Amino acid sequence: TWSAVPAGPPDPILGVSEAFKADKDSKKINLGVGAYRDDKGKPYVLSSVKKAEELLASSHPDKEYLPITGLPEFTKNAAKLAYGAESAPFASNSIAVTQSISGTGALRIGGAFLAKFYPHAKVIYLPVPTWGNHHSVFRDSGLEVRTYRYFDKKTVGLDFAGLKEDLQNAPEKSIVLFHACAHNPTGVDPTQEQWSELSDLVKEKQLFPFFDMAYQGFASGSTSRDAFAVRHFVSEGHQIALAQSFAKNMGLYGERVGAFSLVTESPEEKARVESQLKIVIRPMYSNPPLHGARIANAILSDGALYKEWEDEVKGMAERIISMREKLYDSLTDTLKTPGEWGHIKSQIGMFSFTGLQPEQCKALAEKAHIYMTADGRISMAGLNGGNIEYFAESVDKVVRG
Ligand code: LMR
Repeated sequence: TWSAVPAGPPDPILGVSEAFKADKDSKKINLGVGAYRDDKGKPYVLSSVKKAEELLASSHPDKEYLPITGLPEFTKNAAKLAYGAESAPFASNSIAVTQSISGTGALRIGGAFLAKFYPHAKVIYLPVPTWGNHHSVFRDSGLEVRTYRYFDKKTVGLDFAGLKEDLQNAPEKSIVLFHACAHNPTGVDPTQEQWSELSDLVKEKQLFPFFDMAYQGFASGSTSRDAFAVRHFVSEGHQIALAQSFAKNMGLYGERVGAFSLVTESPEEKARVESQLKIVIRPMYSNPPLHGARIANAILSDGALYKEWEDEVKGMAERIISMREKLYDSLTDTLKTPGEWGHIKSQIGMFSFTGLQPEQCKALAEKAHIYMTADGRISMAGLNGGNIEYFAESVDKVVRG
């Protein structure tokens, strides 16, 4: 029956973890997937998460089904975290929101809802480059995927002029995807002034902004500062779509906790939109998982746990920044590695877009047991006091050829 099924290629990101697992060398380093590691290179379960789990365990909760759109307290708190309690649509109960299978699930629900109900051409513009899975998610949701310029290889920074030109030339009312903060894979974000300009441009062209906020807290260490783009657009009257993930900022990767929301005109419109979100979700997976949403909600709804969580997010962001500084110093001061490495320090969030070429990435895996995606992206969180020198020396070797 399946003789005609061709073997598919490994996933560009998760396939790197498989290759890493298969390598038995003790020096091996995984800088592929964006998952936080502590300074010993170990997965990190946040203390606020452990406490939330203890609280939950002591209350012996049941294991009944959640509603199709998830745990209502959680979705309300998730929206509050993103939009801010003072935001007009939040305060007027006009945000349609559903729990999702983390950020990817949120994007997929959004894509499917837009494919079904967006009243204009179902075309979405993605930045170049973007998280590889964006292309597949939106294509498989039934949207036509197009791209806009984002990253300038020459300056290793934002191609703001190219970005604006491409959005200017997009047909009116197109959908445009923005990374809300900590752009993946480049680590390059627009400044607040640039976001304001983009908001004006989006308004002028009547584009529909869809924000992917997978790293709230990871760019600056502050969840509210990282929500600037989302909150600014909403305060300017844009009715945005938003995908949120709690994988990174709460370290809840495998629990799959996220939310998808749409700003609507009124509580009545919100109710209609939510009724249709249910109809989109029910045949996909019926209703979402319980445990992770309970954990996230316990943290978001308890003052002391919330404070502790915010400090932990800041701690993760700061450790990553310290790794950026160490790596930069090793490459430039100690090893005098040829090339310009300032972007390692200036880039934001979990990743650095190193500029290493695909053959150099391949050589690092084969010769040094160092794994990263073929586009030269490294997850900074995979570096620590114990492996950063080995990493810098290995990069130096491949750069010198
Ligand atoms: C990443 O880009 O590494 C993460 O978003 C994990 C994933 O699912 O690809």
